[in-house]
Amino acid sequence: MLSMIDIQKIRADFPILNREVNGKPLIYFDNAATSQTPQVVIDAIVEYYTVYNANIHRGVHTLSQEATDAYEVARKKVQQHFNAKHDYEMILTAGTTHAINIVATGFTSFLKEGDEIIVSAMEHHSNIVPWQMLCERTGASLKVIPMTEQGVLMMDVYEELLSKKTKLVFVNHVSNALGTVNPIEFIIEKAHAVGAAVLLDGAQATPHLKPDVQALDVDFYVASAHKLCGPTGVGVLYGKEEWLNKLPPYQGGGDMIDQVTFEKTTYAGLPFKFEAGTPNICGGIAFGVALDYLNDLGFENIAAYEKELLDYATKALKEIEGLRIYGEADEKTAVISFNVGNIHPYDIGTIVDKLGVAVRTGHHCAQPIMDFFKIPGTVRASFAFYNTKEEIDTFVEAVKKAVMMLS
Ligand code: ALA
Repeated sequence: MLSMIDIQKIRADFPILNREVNGKPLIYFDNAATSQTPQVVIDAIVEYYTVYNANIHRGVHTLSQEATDAYEVARKKVQQHFNAKHDYEMILTAGTTHAINIVATGFTSFLKEGDEIIVSAMEHHSNIVPWQMLCERTGASLKVIPMTEQGVLMMDVYEELLSKKTKLVFVNHVSNALGTVNPIEFIIEKAHAVGAAVLLDGAQATPHLKPDVQALDVDFYVASAHKLCGPTGVGVLYGKEEWLNKLPPYQGGGDMIDQVTFEKTTYAGLPFKFEAGTPNICGGIAFGVALDYLNDLGFENIAAYEKELLDYATKALKEIEGLRIYGEADEKTAVISFNVGNIHPYDIGTIVDKLGVAVRTGHHCAQPIMDFFKIPGTVRASFAFYNTKEEIDTFVEAVKKAVMMLS
């Protein structure tokens, strides 16, 4: 478990945490949108561009080989992190959205009218819109697992929705807007029992826990590096080898081919079949370094400390009159979405920013959740292992001040 001394040491790894915003020390509580970057990851990025910037898989020259080796080492680190069977099952993408679109597009020729796809009521737009587009292309229809007022998926209704018509189930492992950790083992087991494949959106789960794709027996798992102390513009699509072999390529271009003639092209094997064009080489390498950093801290330590922050902040915020928290599942990560009375979330967000606190406000790319609660949006505070209880105290005081000014 991370102690206060460790936290001060950890904070020193993040140069951005030293800056001021509006004349106040920065309190960064927008970690669910993107995490901050430790010096070791910044150093890896600088080193890449300073020492061995080159294109990969293409050159016999030394720089190209060094860059290729570093990129493929990073892929191995990603494989080990997610405990996939093979490194070639880890497709390095531009992020979670890109990863989901590879699968959604790939399934076009496998679906037909009458087939059904199940998503949940608490999905991010990136895990709704690509499937709606897939339904439009194929005639398949979308079913939605509803949720309770606490922000918990109704598993009894999920079981009723499942049938032989269900071909795919797509849910987030953790909700970005509510913090709910979904019962993914149950979801996977029941989907597989009717022959459906499962994709888990791990964008919000992976900063807080370490998924084991083999133990889960999940078909696809997707995540983004920038939520994991890595850079933006890089992420991962894990797919079981058999699925990745069945799916067609998403994009055509260099590096994804075996032979090209004007009559016919044959494709490269995994993972390159899904990696057309020059990838985010530096980003991929930095992703590997970020995973090393987090694994050195230990995900059990991270989760235990963040739970302490969550409980502390929940208790303090609940003391504010008229404050309602959206998402009160027993199993949740360190995310608190709330509103106070009828005050617009943007107004609270703007005032706390003046006091140095960064939170996200709005619908959090999850409009169906806001429609469910009949609200325009929420204020969302999302914590990371480098945050402290003192920061939460300052934040709670800032919210109280905002409420006083706006009431
Ligand atoms: N999906 C990110 C969030 O929840 C951007 O804020």
